[in-house]
Amino acid sequence: MNEPIPQLPSYDEASLDNAFATLAEEARTTDTTDPEAFRLHWLGRKQGRLKLITEAWLKSAPPEAKKALGIRFNQLKQQIEAALDAPAAKPTTAVQGIDITLPGTLRAPGIPHPLLKTMHEIVSVFHHLGYSTNLGPQVESDFYNFEALNFPENHPARDTQDTLVIANQQSRPSRDRLLMRTHTSPVQIRTMIAQAPPIRIVIPGKVHRNDAADATHSPIFHQIEGLCVDTNITFSDLKGTLDHAMKALFGSDVKTRFFPSFFPFTEPSADVQISCIFCGGKGCRKCKHSGWIELLGCGMVDPAVFAAVTAERRKINPSDDAYNPEKITGFAFGMGVERIAMMLHGVSDIGHFYSGDMRFLEQFA
Ligand code: PHE
Repeated sequence: MNEPIPQLPSYDEASLDNAFATLAEEARTTDTTDPEAFRLHWLGRKQGRLKLITEAWLKSAPPEAKKALGIRFNQLKQQIEAALDAPAAKPTTAVQGIDITLPGTLRAPGIPHPLLKTMHEIVSVFHHLGYSTNLGPQVESDFYNFEALNFPENHPARDTQDTLVIANQQSRPSRDRLLMRTHTSPVQIRTMIAQAPPIRIVIPGKVHRNDAADATHSPIFHQIEGLCVDTNITFSDLKGTLDHAMKALFGSDVKTRFFPSFFPFTEPSADVQISCIFCGGKGCRKCKHSGWIELLGCGMVDPAVFAAVTAERRKINPSDDAYNPEKITGFAFGMGVERIAMMLHGVSDIGHFYSGDMRFLEQFA
């Protein structure tokens, strides 16, 4: 928008000189790198400065002042036209020639962040086994994050996942209340509601827990979930699949063992340990001298989960029987990406992943 034209205090020579000197200075300092914008600013037919001057000063000038005003007006106009014709209307930063003896500017190519890289590695192991990938929202409802996964309201199992809840949800039915998902398992439910077996899916993603940050914990971290549902899926399929995945990730001499554990949505449940990749199982500081490192949780999908999925699917098709536990079974597993990345790369503090420190990140280039 153009500045308004100042008022002319009087038409005597001194006032005219003064007013036009200000305008000449303004014309001299107006940016000419965009010649069309410069032309419109000064010579525009409706709002150009010269048009406004004509309106404000020339039209109402007393007859005896018209000549003095006209001369100055024309000088200003010439100055503006000259500026438009001059090479100065082109960008003013002159290219001074190139000094070919100077070193070039090195631009380092970007690389995937080590966490993303680890995620891709894990996902790709499962892609080779015929798994596909699914994603889900980080802001999740109580139903998907807990209820359908067989964590009843007020059940102590919820305490194992210290939840960050979204404010002002009290007026909603409890199943619809929003929270930050504490694990990637809700996407198991979303996947099964949307499609019938057979299912082989991995779910990478960000999860949130109200944990204090320390060298191995962060309130925001990443998991990869796996879900396989089909006819005749057994615990040995689970063992074989995870044993293969651990060997693919950590090397073929790694051994796995399965310890009884508890998750509300799997029965039986297990924690998977791998033989210590640092000492080969002999016992060292890293494995607390046990020779084993605990790495992930898993188990056979609990029939209560299939029941919750079936109830949802029957809202759309009342005769749906795709997840009848008499006919199909499945297994699920979940692993922390940070923990695996830290082991693979010998990272001792989880905070490095989030620091954005180039000295750390460059090591993965
Ligand atoms: N969701 C569980 C957790 O975050 C891990 C898990 C996933 C366990 C799938 C069993 C099966 O602790």
